[in-house]
Amino acid sequence: MTTLLFPGSFDPFTRGHRDIARRASRVCDKLYVAVMHNDAKNHFFSRDERVYMATESLKAYPNIEVVGYDGLLVDVYKETGCNAVVRGIRSESDFRYEAEMALANRLLHPEYDVVLLPCRDDLSLISSSIVKEVGHYGGDISKMVPAEIVDFISEKLKKGRN
Ligand code: PNS
Repeated sequence: MTTLLFPGSFDPFTRGHRDIARRASRVCDKLYVAVMHNDAKNHFFSRDERVYMATESLKAYPNIEVVGYDGLLVDVYKETGCNAVVRGIRSESDFRYEAEMALANRLLHPEYDVVLLPCRDDLSLISSSIVKEVGHYGGDISKMVPAEIVDFISEKLKKGRN
């Protein structure tokens, strides 16, 4: 049985994230999507909200399970018994970041490995930061995030505006 793990902060979950999860789920038996903390980022949505958004966005895919995890990626890697992590890359700078992260994780856990999926052209400019900025000013985010969570994100971003 092949198990992959797609970790991220998903603040918020975007159509780009869903596309990576969907494609990864086709090449494994089980895909865990782990909602985690990125120390370099100040998350706008709580972990429970981020788990909720990923779960709502991925409910059509029976072999995907969303989990929330506070801690090191290598620990959830070991706990899930996955064969590899999967991450999406949009650009050269994403690639550098992923290469550094893979190196650090391999120092912590020599069995660690990662599969990088180039993201779809039409989704390559979408980022969680852009969604937050557009939504913050009341702009239309419906082409950027899965339909199931458009209202949830818009409401929360509107409340956070002031
Ligand atoms: O979606 P992001 O913000 O690019 O995801 C980054 C994430 C959450 C995968 C990364 O920050 C992470 O692995 N966090 C868990 C803590 C950890 O293991 N840090 C060491 C990574 S080298």
